[in-house]
Amino acid sequence: MINQEQRIAIYPGSFDPLTNGHVDIIERGLKIFDKIIVAVLYNPSKNALFSVEERMEMIRKSFINHSNKENIIVDSFGGLLVDYAKQKDAVAIIRGMRAISDFESEFQMALMNRKLSRDVQTIFLMTGLRWIFISSSILKEVARFGGDISGMAPHPVKCKMKEKFPLLKDK
Ligand code: COA
Repeated sequence: MINQEQRIAIYPGSFDPLTNGHVDIIERGLKIFDKIIVAVLYNPSKNALFSVEERMEMIRKSFINHSNKENIIVDSFGGLLVDYAKQKDAVAIIRGMRAISDFESEFQMALMNRKLSRDVQTIFLMTGLRWIFISSSILKEVARFGGDISGMAPHPVKCKMKEKFPLLKDK
């Protein structure tokens, strides 16, 4: 149940799948906001490995023992992000910034969102140095060829990846 007076932020993305880099951003976000809605985008144009439901389930399981789990809400959305943010009474959109290469597209998205709505602010958080080289695609590539992804994604993600990629090592 969301209290109207709480400061809510949306952390949107494909999360195909969630990585430790995403976890890092969610944990940092919780130091600023009361609640974070991790919102998985329904995007039929992106050829995803996991269904939206599978991605949401992996995210939920990844935070099941987290000390702040009641403030992490997992949801999905389609359509415009700013409309979704408004519907959820969110004051901010959180985006992670890994490197300068992320900047251009993030800048463009933030400006477009600002043009569409002045009610929601985009907040960029630096991804922890340890996760700067991680993306969902690179994780999938390593897993597909049987590489070890321990320490790069939460355990429930690794288990689910194993179902898709039998070569994935059990370390
Ligand atoms: N750690 C690790 N990886 C990270 C990361 C972090 N902190 N931050 C981003 N990434 C990676 C993701 O894993 C993903 O990797 P992949 O390309 O290998 O799958 C990549 O960066 C893209 O990140 P993601 O956050 O999933 O962005 P996206 O481009 O898929 O989605 C939305 C961005 C959802 C915010 C955007 O598409 C959106 O708002 N869509 C709704 C429609 C809309 O409103 N459009 C107008 C506004 S522009």
